[in-house]
Amino acid sequence: MGNKYNVGIITISDRSSSGEREDLAGPLLRDLVEEDGYKVVNESIVPDEKDLIMEKLIELSNDDSIALILTTGGTGFSPRDITPEATIEVCERLTPGIPEVMRAHSSKYTNRAYLSRSQAGIRKRSLIINLPGSPKALKENLEVLLPFLDHGLQMLRGKSADCANE
Ligand code: MTE
Repeated sequence: MGNKYNVGIITISDRSSSGEREDLAGPLLRDLVEEDGYKVVNESIVPDEKDLIMEKLIELSNDDSIALILTTGGTGFSPRDITPEATIEVCERLTPGIPEVMRAHSSKYTNRAYLSRSQAGIRKRSLIINLPGSPKALKENLEVLLPFLDHGLQMLRGKSADCANE
């Protein structure tokens, strides 16, 4: 609790971006991270188009004030699900432990967790994490992520040198 890192949230969904379906995931994600002390400074909805997703990820990570970028949706097997590929393409370094723990933890709720192709990585000084699209999945993933995320962001932002003396 208490950190003040700025967060950008991107809902990735054809139907939400066209207005056909109300975006429930983005607002829920905002509430969940703000309850934990983060500040959401940018929220957007983009369709499942690789170029548009990459463009938004680049725009947000070019803003040095944004330490964390959370995407929701587009990580499954549907033909249009392309969020992980867009993420890998913009990241300079991948952080595989994050999707590893997300899938491991989520599998306690549903073995379909292993169908999420979610990725995470770093571009510049921003950490990008793909979350699945359903509100239930968001809650289940954040409960495992939030307890250790702050330490990673502190390292990324040069506020904590390393873990050697802990
Ligand atoms: N993770 C958790 N914690 N809880 C869930 O209910 N649903 C899974 C998975 N991850 C789920 C989950 C399902 S059914 C799918 S298809 C994938 O996330 C991909 O979801 P997405 O296409 O909305 O990104």
